[in-house]
Amino acid sequence: MNPACAQSPSDRPVFRLDGGGMTYSFGVNERDELQQIYWGGRLGAQDAIAAPRSMPEAASFDSSYNNTPQEYAGWGAGLYMEPALKVTFADGNRDLVLHYVSASPSTGPHEQVVDVALKDISRAVTVILHYSMDAESGILSRSATIENHEPKPIVIEQAAAAAFALPPARYTLSYLSGRWGGEWTLNQETIRQGQRVLESRRGTTGHQLNPWFAISKTAPGSAVEEEHGETWFGSLAWSGSWRISVEQDTLDEVRVVGGFNPFDFGYQLKPGEKLDSPVFYAGYSKDGMGGASRLLNRYTLTHILPQAPNPRPRPVIYNSWEATEMNVSEAGQEAMAEKAKLLGVDRFVMDDGWFGQRKTDHAGLGDWYVNQEKFPNGLKPLIDKVHSLNMDFGLWVEPEMVNPDSDLYRKHPDWVLNFPGRPRSEERTQLVLNLARPDVRDYVFGFLDKLLSENQIAFLKWDYNRNWSEPGWDQLPPEEQKKVYVAFIRNLYSILAELRAKHPGVEIESCSGGGGRVDLGILRYTDEVWPSDNTDPLDRLTLQDGFTHAYPAQAMVAWVTDSPHWLNNRSTSMSYRMLVSMQGSLGIGGNLNRWTEDDLATARRLIAAYHQVQKTIVQGDLYRLISPTHGSEFSATETVSLDKTQAVFFAFVHSTQEGRSFPRLKLLGLDPAATYTLSSIEGKAAEGTPTKASGAWWMNHGIDLALRGDFQGAAFRLDRQQ
Ligand code: GLA
Repeated sequence: MNPACAQSPSDRPVFRLDGGGMTYSFGVNERDELQQIYWGGRLGAQDAIAAPRSMPEAASFDSSYNNTPQEYAGWGAGLYMEPALKVTFADGNRDLVLHYVSASPSTGPHEQVVDVALKDISRAVTVILHYSMDAESGILSRSATIENHEPKPIVIEQAAAAAFALPPARYTLSYLSGRWGGEWTLNQETIRQGQRVLESRRGTTGHQLNPWFAISKTAPGSAVEEEHGETWFGSLAWSGSWRISVEQDTLDEVRVVGGFNPFDFGYQLKPGEKLDSPVFYAGYSKDGMGGASRLLNRYTLTHILPQAPNPRPRPVIYNSWEATEMNVSEAGQEAMAEKAKLLGVDRFVMDDGWFGQRKTDHAGLGDWYVNQEKFPNGLKPLIDKVHSLNMDFGLWVEPEMVNPDSDLYRKHPDWVLNFPGRPRSEERTQLVLNLARPDVRDYVFGFLDKLLSENQIAFLKWDYNRNWSEPGWDQLPPEEQKKVYVAFIRNLYSILAELRAKHPGVEIESCSGGGGRVDLGILRYTDEVWPSDNTDPLDRLTLQDGFTHAYPAQAMVAWVTDSPHWLNNRSTSMSYRMLVSMQGSLGIGGNLNRWTEDDLATARRLIAAYHQVQKTIVQGDLYRLISPTHGSEFSATETVSLDKTQAVFFAFVHSTQEGRSFPRLKLLGLDPAATYTLSSIEGKAAEGTPTKASGAWWMNHGIDLALRGDFQGAAFRLDRQQ
């Protein structure tokens, strides 16, 4: 018997998916609805799971339909909780009741897979639910395909990827919010009756909320635990308008529904057409928020990133943006490249300003030819220079945008998102090209393909500096225009996929004015993301802390920039700035012409040290030992390589007061029986600290650091003795 489909004694099908430390189970109830049975810690293989029975009616106002947690509920039959699917039929009928039809399970060596077909009780609308459970991590991927076999079109007003349920308990919801320059704030709040909506209506992922959540079981009044306690989590792989709703029903059960944002949605399906939802990943850990993020981030490294399962640690980059902004030139960039090389940088990236008539952000976007004044001989001399310094070359592009002051816009004013006859709202004096249009898609693919074919470019920083407005697509009949929400993003993904296939050596960063487009959808096609335009190191500590809950340090580019910092006017030492950025994929983004000899020497020394331990830092298991949030004076992170042969830890103090010592750091995740040698990357341990001790010592006794002052940092490595 296939474990993905264990027949229950009642003869109604029950499905059971086991992976890592998690079991997920659902089955067909007596009304033929597909009902969730269980989502949590792994059950015994011998445990029989009975087919579900619908929840009883609690009162005439709390119907059984509403109380029963369906796997994918159509809006109909008195459902008041968030539906997964809502449609309008051509005759005006809006009642949709999905019943189980069939299932096709298939189990591979690494995952259990099952497709379950549902169909409306009378109309020819079917939904195929796709489930795939990763055997190792227990990460479950879920998505849905909606098919119209009716003789007339239907309009999909709401379509989720998946719905999940948790039984009544006291829960805390964690989610990430922010704004430009201040992304990745971790919010935690008690889940109460009613709905908490996490969403973007912006046509893109957004800085404001990220499509990730975690739900922790908490005792009344207690905080969410970092390393203990049950945690359920999910991440929606979609880079367009999205929504995740977390809702506690009147009987205290919690439901999570995530997928396309229903706001302004209206996807017409003609007879025979279908719509695929994004993928919603979900998982479970009994080891708190730390355990949850280690599982999800490992999965991203091994299953999502373009180079999965073995993404190479990112080259240390130099990026010119903060140093020169748009004032780039052949001589200026070449001089900077020479300086970058002396630091030990691997990749030189030229940012905005090299193309079209780009002098300020008022012109040029859309005209992807090399600016003749700044680069009279094209990009080749600069690229050759960078190669002669033994670095590879990367370039900034913002392919989906156009300035009204550009040749492209003058030629194709109809190519932007707009409603004819209505104003076109500019942001940063730019408009959004309608990538859903096939001609725009071809143009964007075409110029990028040409750029990559004609130049030796190893890396693109793909930017996206505004959100949508007036999202019209007037090429299509009115009833089809709202398809833009899906078609735009699918074309974005297809361009990225096609470029990667044609230029396999090219690596890509997703940037959107910082962290405006970070999600597991874009991370299938991009190797790294730019988490924030805010590079102030103190702010970065909290940004990075939030980021790592949902995404791995491998994908987290972290530049070291100038002091005092342009945003906060805070002055910090080079050592502090370097150590903060070394917790992610390190880059240098300052004006090297202004760095002192001491600064350059510190950066050079720490880049060399980073290169030695980078893989452990960005791909190891991360333990957030002390969180920098809530005004904490201290913070610390530790990462341990998968084979436990190496650990690296960082510690930071904001401002020492009253002579307080840094809290003793008890490390985690080491092999207790092995012996580890401690060496300093930067900073000192307290006097008397052994240089060699067991994993048990470092974890149980812990280590005291000599770390005091304002904005001070330290970093150490532990290497296991052979
Ligand atoms: C965005 C990016 C920056 C930089 C500028 C260039 O703001 O986030 O890093 O590339 O655009 O205009």
